[in-house]
Amino acid sequence: MSSATAPVGIFDSGVGGLTVLQALRHRLPRERFIYLGDTARLPYGTKSAESVVRYSTQAASFLVGCGIKYLVVACNTASSVALKDLRERFEPLPVVGVIEPGAQAACESSRSGHIAVIATEGTIRGGAYQNAIAAKLPNAVLATRACSLFVALAEEGWTEGEIVEGTARRYLSDPITEDPQIDTLLLGCTHFPVLRATLHRVVGERVPIVDSAHTTAAVLAADLTARELHASPTQSGSVRFLATDSGERFARVGSLFLGERVAAEEVELVDL
Ligand code: DGL
Repeated sequence: MSSATAPVGIFDSGVGGLTVLQALRHRLPRERFIYLGDTARLPYGTKSAESVVRYSTQAASFLVGCGIKYLVVACNTASSVALKDLRERFEPLPVVGVIEPGAQAACESSRSGHIAVIATEGTIRGGAYQNAIAAKLPNAVLATRACSLFVALAEEGWTEGEIVEGTARRYLSDPITEDPQIDTLLLGCTHFPVLRATLHRVVGERVPIVDSAHTTAAVLAADLTARELHASPTQSGSVRFLATDSGERFARVGSLFLGERVAAEEVELVDL
């Protein structure tokens, strides 16, 4: 039986999921989190669904071995192809992904039902956002676009400037100009929130930008309470960082995504 004092496990293909961790910590400051970034195998977004399911299962197994009470799949690509497998394999461990919460955020934001979704190649190809949005808003009209280069730019720390803006215009101009009714841009990838300021300039203030982080935190908070698994008001929150490759790079790039400094010494190297 899971105990309320056990940690919440969260994994991503790399450091991008730290944008989700940031929202979780903000919402649930008393929880203990274990964050695993599978940096040795990043990116997941260009890999086959079979590989992503295998990697995700290994990452989840490792966290389950750490005694977690809840699993958060922060990676959109992993959530889109591996969530069902993970739920079945690790039952009764509760597992939440970021697709449903992201779709919910987009549907709540859009008045016209015309939504642009940007994500990795794997996430767009798998159709998980398309299905999740259609289930909530059957008349939704979607423009989807795989924006693989954004992952590399964000990893490089290039979040502003002419190269990023030019890349964003190239990816986004067509969908946005072809459908002037688009009134929401959903960031369906962990790496994209750090590009938000640039994306705002490209799509214009008329189009709000939403992502999964805050809705995922809200879903987790509600479910922890429903299952009586939430941390007690006296528990101190903490984070343990695990990575499958270079702690130094995790700390350097991860600090940008988390919005606060991560020291290389805090990152434990693990083998899945
Ligand atoms: N974490 C991935 C996602 O959210 C982006 C990086 C990758 O391709 O692994 O889809």
